Amino acid sequence: MINTSSSFVPVDRELSAWIRLAFESAYPEAGSVLARISTVPTMSPEFGDYQCNDAMNLARALKIKPRVIAERLIAVAGPHPGVARMEIAGPGFVNVFLEDSWISDRLAAMAGAGGLGLPSDGAGKTVIVDYSSPNVAKPMHIGHIRSTVIGNSLYRIHSALGYRTVSDNHIGDWGTQFGIIIMGYRHFLDQKALETSPIEELERVYVKSYEKSREDADWLNECRRELVKLQSGDEQNVALWKDFVALSLREFEGIYRRLGVSFDIVRGESYYRDKLAGVVRQLEEKELARESEGAMVVFMEEDKLPPCIVRKSDGGYNYASSDLATVASRVDEFGPDRIIYVTDERQQLHFRQIFAISRKLGCSVSLEHVWFGLMRLPEGTFSTREGNVIKLERLLDEAESRALAIVTASSPDMPEERRREVARVVGIGAIKYADLSQNPQTTVTFTWEKALALDGNSGPYLQYAYARIASVRDKFAERFPGIDPDGFPIVFTQQIERTLALKLLKFPEAVTRAAQACKPSTVADYLYDLAQSYSTFYQNVPFLKAEDGVRESRVRLCGITAKVLKSGLDLLGIETQERI
Ligand code: ARG
Repeated sequence: MINTSSSFVPVDRELSAWIRLAFESAYPEAGSVLARISTVPTMSPEFGDYQCNDAMNLARALKIKPRVIAERLIAVAGPHPGVARMEIAGPGFVNVFLEDSWISDRLAAMAGAGGLGLPSDGAGKTVIVDYSSPNVAKPMHIGHIRSTVIGNSLYRIHSALGYRTVSDNHIGDWGTQFGIIIMGYRHFLDQKALETSPIEELERVYVKSYEKSREDADWLNECRRELVKLQSGDEQNVALWKDFVALSLREFEGIYRRLGVSFDIVRGESYYRDKLAGVVRQLEEKELARESEGAMVVFMEEDKLPPCIVRKSDGGYNYASSDLATVASRVDEFGPDRIIYVTDERQQLHFRQIFAISRKLGCSVSLEHVWFGLMRLPEGTFSTREGNVIKLERLLDEAESRALAIVTASSPDMPEERRREVARVVGIGAIKYADLSQNPQTTVTFTWEKALALDGNSGPYLQYAYARIASVRDKFAERFPGIDPDGFPIVFTQQIERTLALKLLKFPEAVTRAAQACKPSTVADYLYDLAQSYSTFYQNVPFLKAEDGVRESRVRLCGITAKVLKSGLDLLGIETQERI
């Protein structure tokens, strides 16, 4: 017997467990196929609410016709309080039709459960999310904003599922570029420019010094000497380096504040600098690395990967040694179950090597690289653009000013201060959503029209939907003071109410799927779909004019929709406003 008591279990899990049980009792000999049996939402209501497609898999394993299997399954499945009936379709699909009263009971349970019924899949588990991670003395580029927005959402999603989460901004604050920057700083610095826009100025002197190093061997040697001095703790160079780091962090902080992002730890590569020699020594001792042309190299033919240099021929350590030391240190300190890295697609090989080498060193933690394609920016998208580097500040400014124009047009009577606040929420939300709603592994073309569209799959569309729902609740409270709609049962007098309720029930499913695939876009897709169902509901049934009981049930559905939209947007790191 299935337990449908007070604690909320996501519907897909409950049905999957029930159907799996039926399969197990009908075909215990099927073995490992059984573990993968599940129910999935149907594409169209004629196929029921959920369906199970596993009779086909079992048929292959057992050499029995899938329809026969499906029939037997239905015969042996014990009653489930939520299942009204089952039907077999096509070659052996099992379609499950849910009981209306069960849907409304489950929905009420979900709305009343803490965290809207999200399961605590992560209880007792720790996940580290390494994201944003810009480089010191360089401006953040569009790849870093994507990492920031996607990484922050993954952090939120995992926290909501009960994981102990640690976010780490792994700043690029240690590396060969610092010799070049120090030389550039000493010879080319414009003090005034440093005061007004420090990162731009550091970047400028870096580029100038770098270019010089390519044609002037003496200069290059000087740069190397400065780097060695820094690495061996030379007081002056260390002080300069600290300044670079502080200036950069201050500028990054400004962006994080605007994006509403903060980190549990901000360590940067330099934190691990004393551990680099140890890691390389360990690789040597275990005969995983050997010398080749003066460098220390891990050869990885058996992993079908190119060789990975862990110490350069000049004795310097590199990005690879730094990340290997970072894995080991994190494992020691936090005992994580998983470490998730969020960067652009160009680092795929790097992480494949780091993960493979870490495993050779005995690391059993699940190491996951979440990569994304770079966002394409059609010419003229941003008013300020230099090369490939978009000034993030400008991007956010522009989002807010465009949003302000929209808000002013839709609410001309709103006081200016409020309009600015709403524009901030809408503008930043639009930028984040444009990023999060895409499958991260495709090239995305950003346009303002799409990001800010009030009638399409955009952040503002969802924020407006949320505000509209809030106003329905307000109107109800005004017209029917003292009545709590949430104390009334949820009833379905029309199909759209049932459709909306079922969609609401799928919130936990969307969130768990997003976590499994590390894809916030799953939550975004879900929310857009939900908002569309809500809008059909809103346009087609009367609210305040409906009869007693039906009215309250509808207003209650509105309230749950608002809750789900708000929580879902929050998982994407997007704020909402009650009034827009
Ligand atoms: N600083 C690097 C960059 O800007 C990203 C670092 C990602 N994290 C890591 N542990 N390697 O490309």
